[in-house]
Amino acid sequence: MDITILGIESSCDDTSIAILQNRKILANVTANQKIHAEYGGVVPELASRAHQQNIIPTVEAALKQANIKLENLSGIAFTSGPGLLGSLLVGTSFAKSLSLALNKPLIEVNHMRAHILAHLIEEDGQENPEFPFLCLTVSGGHTQIVQVNSPYSMDLLGSTIDDAAGEAFDKAGKIMGLAYPAGPEIDRRAQLGDPLKFEFAKPKMPDFQFSFSGLKTSILYFLQKQMKEDPGFIDRELDNLCASIQHSIVTILMDKLKLAAQKTGINRIAIAGGVSANSGLREALLKEEAEGNWKVFIPSFQFTTDNGAMIAISGYYKYLQEDFSDLSIVASARKPLEA
Ligand code: KG4
Ligand code: ZN
Repeated sequence: MDITILGIESSCDDTSIAILQNRKILANVTANQKIHAEYGGVVPELASRAHQQNIIPTVEAALKQANIKLENLSGIAFTSGPGLLGSLLVGTSFAKSLSLALNKPLIEVNHMRAHILAHLIEEDGQENPEFPFLCLTVSGGHTQIVQVNSPYSMDLLGSTIDDAAGEAFDKAGKIMGLAYPAGPEIDRRAQLGDPLKFEFAKPKMPDFQFSFSGLKTSILYFLQKQMKEDPGFIDRELDNLCASIQHSIVTILMDKLKLAAQKTGINRIAIAGGVSANSGLREALLKEEAEGNWKVFIPSFQFTTDNGAMIAISGYYKYLQEDFSDLSIVASARKPLEA
């Protein structure tokens, strides 16, 4: 029998709804929220209001695209955390009401596990990783190295003690006057600049821990000093600055990933989250693969940012185990990877 799951993602600033049949996508529709660009970051209150406006039209669009009727769904999966509480509440209440109205199982999904499980979606031309594999999850809110033993068993090897990798891109961009989120623009400009022109402080962190706040401070002080001497410095050197900053961030990520591969003996390496769209990071991984060190799994672009499909695939695996939630389930802004 086919298992058809509706996936609802509303943890941050995108309302994304997907319909998955077994492990294949029938629809994955995202309503982006442009409003936050004006404020230089996501404004939680505006995000939850936009989710309220977007959620019903997005579900309708996904059902139409998939050519599925609500009564044909097997279960309703939704993000219960981590994320912005107000945003999570919109998806959680909607999922509960739908599950109650349709009398279909309700399945809560951990957003961070979902980013990783997106690698198990069946897509033409894409190979799924065998277990165990390592996954570097890098987004605007998180930086983690995870050992994935099965869809149901993951061990967090290390994470950041301060800023996330995406935050490092965004904050560096803000210092240089780029619009939020600055990651994609830094990536674009980095391809035109010299990655070795400027060098920034590199953190010395034990094991698989990350820290990015020192890098941000190092960029800030360097630019303040340069701008005092030459107010045209940032404008003139912007491409080289972007290339050097991207190079620093990618090196920090790759060094830890290499250490994790070495210590665990696992050479199947996946990346996930918004920063996995970064061309410098992709290039560095592909170089390892070309040298015969790793087999790498890079998500297609639509699964790098927050998406409903990753929630639906996570729901699918929980459905197989009949791991359902009841209506007393609550959203939580903070949620460990293990929960
Ligand atoms: O996973 P995501 O869409 O949202 C969450 O934070 O959950 O990640 C967004 C982050 C932002 O910090 C953005 O600047 C970064 O991903 N990002 C990139 C690129 N595309 C998005 N960073 C570097 N290079 C990119 N191409
Ligand atoms: Zn995310």
